[in-house]
Amino acid sequence: MHRKTLPGFVSALLASLFFAGAAQAADAAAEDGAAVYSRSGCWGCHAYLGQGGRDGPQIAHTALSYEAFSTFVRNSTGDMPPFTARIVPDADLEKIYAYLQSIPEPPAPETLPLLQDVFSD
Ligand code: HEC
Repeated sequence: MHRKTLPGFVSALLASLFFAGAAQAADAAAEDGAAVYSRSGCWGCHAYLGQGGRDGPQIAHTALSYEAFSTFVRNSTGDMPPFTARIVPDADLEKIYAYLQSIPEPPAPETLPLLQDVFSD
């Protein structure tokens, strides 16, 4: 019995180490991404947390896949100027994407203490 559960335990441990490592790598990319996002000037239109502003829509938690995101950023012909790989290299764009996906979601309005009166009954 003990011999049977041990491999399960070991593989669970290995899996958790693997996922912790992957999560750490994603965190590091997101951290760098905040700096790259700021340096690349995206914030000028999309605001610091990608929440959008007067000149650009919200891009935090974009529903676009990385490929669609990259294609848009590189080839925009609308109101957003295109950012080629010479301006924002692929490695930087990947970090920006990780950053945008890592920004915490705002809390639901009904969970905010100040708004309890509005939501009660
Ligand atoms: C000069 C203002 C401006 C800057 C700077 C800018 N954007 Fe935009 N962005 C826009 C506007 C305006 C749109 C909407 C354009 C459209 O729909 O054609 C847009 C749209 C987008 C979209 C598509 C959003 C969607 O869901 O359809 C993405 C992704 C995006 N921007 C990423 C970026 C990134 C990454 C950077 C920095 C490298 C950046 N933008 C810099 C103005 C800007």
